[in-house]
Amino acid sequence: MGKGIFITFEGGEGCGKTSHIAALAEYLRARGRERVVTREPGGTPLSEKIRALLLHDKEGEGMSARAEILLFEAARAQHVDGLIKPALAAGKCVLSDRFFDSTTAYQGAARKLDLDEVKSLNAFAAAGLEPDLTIVLDIRAADGLARAGLRDGNAADRMGSERAEFYESVRSAFLRLASENPERFAVVDASGSKEETFAKVVEAVERKGLAKCRT
Ligand SMILES: Nc1ncnc2c1ncn2[C@@H]1O[C@H](COP(=O)(O)OP(=O)(O)OP(=O)(O)O)[C@@H](O)[C@H]1O
Ligand SMILES: [Mg+2]
Repeated sequence: MGKGIFITFEGGEGCGKTSHIAALAEYLRARGRERVVTREPGGTPLSEKIRALLLHDKEGEGMSARAEILLFEAARAQHVDGLIKPALAAGKCVLSDRFFDSTTAYQGAARKLDLDEVKSLNAFAAAGLEPDLTIVLDIRAADGLARAGLRDGNAADRMGSERAEFYESVRSAFLRLASENPERFAVVDASGSKEETFAKVVEAVERKGLAKCRT
């Protein structure tokens, strides 16, 4: 059985990750490709418990930046070993709503933890695994937040309740990561309609050779 393909979606709040992952999963299904849709933090029962602590539970309020990153990495380690690696070994397309680039952008750039330390924690948690393709859905932070606000009303999670500068530094961090790793990243302008944006997503994925996914 061949190795599958690992595609991650990144970008700030409300840029369209969840919408476009669902659309891409449907696109792959219609072409008979085996696919697994997952998310970070999350994707396994243990990782979803950690997600609740990170995003919603009252015990997570006021957690330190170091505790936060270690919880993200613990969730990731279980996700990689328990779900992503086995699916790739079985030749599937794995689509993840966020992966370690979010940790670099949020905990490294926006929370200002040491970037080299963040990158080595990412590599440790991912056990050397890297995405084949990372799609950054790029939109002005304020516009993404407005979309998420329309979706959620007042129910933003903990990571969705920061100040405007925080999200602007997240956006620049994703763009910087993409320019540093042009062979892995595709930056897609997400400011247009869902249809326009999705057409660009498909183009990026087709360029990377979807044929690698088992049918
Ligand atoms: N191109 C678009 N134009 C207008 N609205 C959009 C577009 N893409 C997504 N939306 C809408 O914006 C909202 C946010 O999209 P979505 O939930 O997919 O973003 P997300 O990146 O997953 O957000 P989060 O970071 O909060 O998980 C949704 O209500 C979605 O229907
Ligand atoms: Mg989402």
